[in-house]
Amino acid sequence: MNAPHPDLSALIQLTPEWERLQLLAYCVSLNRNGGEVGDTDLVRLRELQAAVDALRSPGGIWEQVLGERLTPVEYDVLVAVAGPEFEPRLGWAYQNLQGGQKDPWPSRALLHELFALEPHQGESLRSALAPSGILRRARLVAIARDEAWQPLQPESGLIARIAGRRWQPPAPPGSEPVIGAATWDDLVLPADRRRMLREFMLWIEHRHTVEGDWGASWAGGPVALFAGPSGTGKTLAARVIASVMDWPLFRIDLGRLVSKYVGETEENLNRLFDAAHDQPMVLQFDEADALFAKRGEIKEARDRYANMEVSHLLSRIESHRGPVILTTNLRRNLDAAFTRRLQMVVEFPRPDVEARATLWTRLLPPRAPLAEGVDVAELASAVALTGGQIRNAALHAAYLAAGAGVPIGPSELALGIWREINKDGRECVCSELGPLAVHLPQECIDG
Ligand SMILES: Nc1ncnc2c1ncn2[C@@H]1O[C@H](COP(=O)(O)OP(=O)(O)O)[C@@H](O)[C@H]1O
Ligand SMILES: [Mg+2]
Repeated sequence: MNAPHPDLSALIQLTPEWERLQLLAYCVSLNRNGGEVGDTDLVRLRELQAAVDALRSPGGIWEQVLGERLTPVEYDVLVAVAGPEFEPRLGWAYQNLQGGQKDPWPSRALLHELFALEPHQGESLRSALAPSGILRRARLVAIARDEAWQPLQPESGLIARIAGRRWQPPAPPGSEPVIGAATWDDLVLPADRRRMLREFMLWIEHRHTVEGDWGASWAGGPVALFAGPSGTGKTLAARVIASVMDWPLFRIDLGRLVSKYVGETEENLNRLFDAAHDQPMVLQFDEADALFAKRGEIKEARDRYANMEVSHLLSRIESHRGPVILTTNLRRNLDAAFTRRLQMVVEFPRPDVEARATLWTRLLPPRAPLAEGVDVAELASAVALTGGQIRNAALHAAYLAAGAGVPIGPSELALGIWREINKDGRECVCSELGPLAVHLPQECIDG
């Protein structure tokens, strides 16, 4: 649900909705005491009904606020439940009408009376509030138990949307937020990969049209697999997608989720997916290798995930409604039977020399002073680093320069790269720096 953001004027326009409900509540109390609704009130009620119909018409303010179109009954329920947040007198009226109940929320039974439904029409209310209905599915209205006298409550996301406030869903259990907005410009990738990422976004952005309006069968997800060595921009690409949608990105480390709670994995997964279903968020599963390990092929992965029902996980991912990005550092073992079940498989290559030059330009701090003669093309061809390594090396060089009070020069860059390539514990020789090696401090060369 990617609703265009309303401003506060939405709230002003919605006044007739609350006024209509107050008048209806007044009619109920009159009625219960054997009174008659006067002509003036009936005229006013008709005026308000017309005003409300306009607000609920296709393209009207409600559709802008919700990003969804509801049925008349669903609108009635939604408005009645949200009302007390915006018109407190409505909350008092509900309390009085419900025998002085302490909550200001209406029950299904009260709505039945409020909208003057015949006994047989009660079913429409019940189905509007079913767990599979849009009000519950899209987390607009909450109900503790499916009983006629249970109070119906507005979800915090609904109130925020009506008020034009920015609202983001909380992190589902077992996930952690990935912070940091990113744009397409930040991402250095071959053109066809960028194109694939944009196509993946179409699956997220145009679901309403293709599924809702055009009647396509429901495909789940969409689910993409990002495969490539560490530091090639998989998480960055997920951040770009989330930022373009203006949704939060939540990361789940499958390895941790599985090994941390042996035996409880299935329950953890259920909690995670229940909270994330149909929510405006992007989920990223790291170390997704286990899902597509060919039977008997990756022994280690299979052992690690031995206690997990891989098929259960896969089916939960597939039936999840919302974008999922699986990431893996392995490529060789992609199982065709698995990849066919995904909407998109994107390979993240190690950057070539041209891409590395671009990465150096982007990842050196933009306002940092550079020493005369520093040439990114030279840096790019000297050592074949990944984007993640270039980022670290560039930052390390920047701190060396800041510490010495000098512009970033060849010595800082050489040392930054040297520190980076030595991180993985392998014996490095300074000739790996190519022409930059001459700028390394003597003690690095001596070891
Ligand atoms: N293709 C790329 N384009 C731009 N920056 C990149 C790219 N790959 C890596 N980086 C830089 O390295 C950092 C770490 O990369 P990340 O996306 O976490 O890699 P991965 O998830 O593939 O391990 C990024 O935040 C970014 O600064
Ligand atoms: Mg990553």
